Amino acid sequence: EKDIQSKLPLKGKKILITAGPTYEAIDPVRFIGNHSSGKMGFEIAKCAANLGAEVILVSGPSNQKISHSFVKRIDVVSAEDMYSACHQYYKEMDVAICSAAVADYKPANVANQKIKKKDAALNIELSPTKDILASLGQLKEKQLLVGFALETNNEEENAKGKIERKNLDLIVLNSLKDKGAGFATDTNKITIIDKDFKFQKFEMKSKAEVAQDILTVIIKKLHV
Ligand code: CTP
Ligand code: CA
Repeated sequence: EKDIQSKLPLKGKKILITAGPTYEAIDPVRFIGNHSSGKMGFEIAKCAANLGAEVILVSGPSNQKISHSFVKRIDVVSAEDMYSACHQYYKEMDVAICSAAVADYKPANVANQKIKKKDAALNIELSPTKDILASLGQLKEKQLLVGFALETNNEEENAKGKIERKNLDLIVLNSLKDKGAGFATDTNKITIIDKDFKFQKFEMKSKAEVAQDILTVIIKKLHV
């Protein structure tokens, strides 16, 4: 009770955060990626560190910057790299927040040499990447596990499905229906759903404020 009100409510807590996109190589010069900026995850990392947490930030390729003595940044490229980095630290974590936009598919084979355009009618065979968040859900012990969901339709049903499938404590639902919410914006409109399917809706806010809201919910869960 006292710690919730103190200035450093996350003091002594270790938090793993994933952020940004992943890039899945096609050949030495090309990849499959997405428009995630990493901003949401970096804001959560900054805010958590300011609240006293020790943060491991595993980031895919991103222009975001962070310098805080409580944040250890680990840069990765592919979903496979992100998976390995997360598993290296997860056991000792109190909280894991997966905000990365991990590629769902990667090229089944990576060409050693640049693919030439004369190799007409190129088809790229894809295979699924590992689901990092679901794998953490399977290994969950003491950790509070938080996922994100980006949905365009059937949002709440889909988000609830992800809570169950991935064994989450909380999911942050990002609505793409709202202008100013999502990938390449500075604002976000979220709903947080817990594993008992209790909903909390928030207004459109800056990503820094959204980070604060998410961490406030996490802090309450850690102290009950
Ligand atoms: N996630 C992950 N590893 C993956 C795919 C997703 O860790 N290979 C995490 C994301 O970081 C996010 C959550 O899972 O926290 C949900 O991601 P999302 O793309 O919304 O869901 P998917 O399970 O990939 O399903 P779909 O894309 O089909 O909606
Ligand atoms: Ca996905």
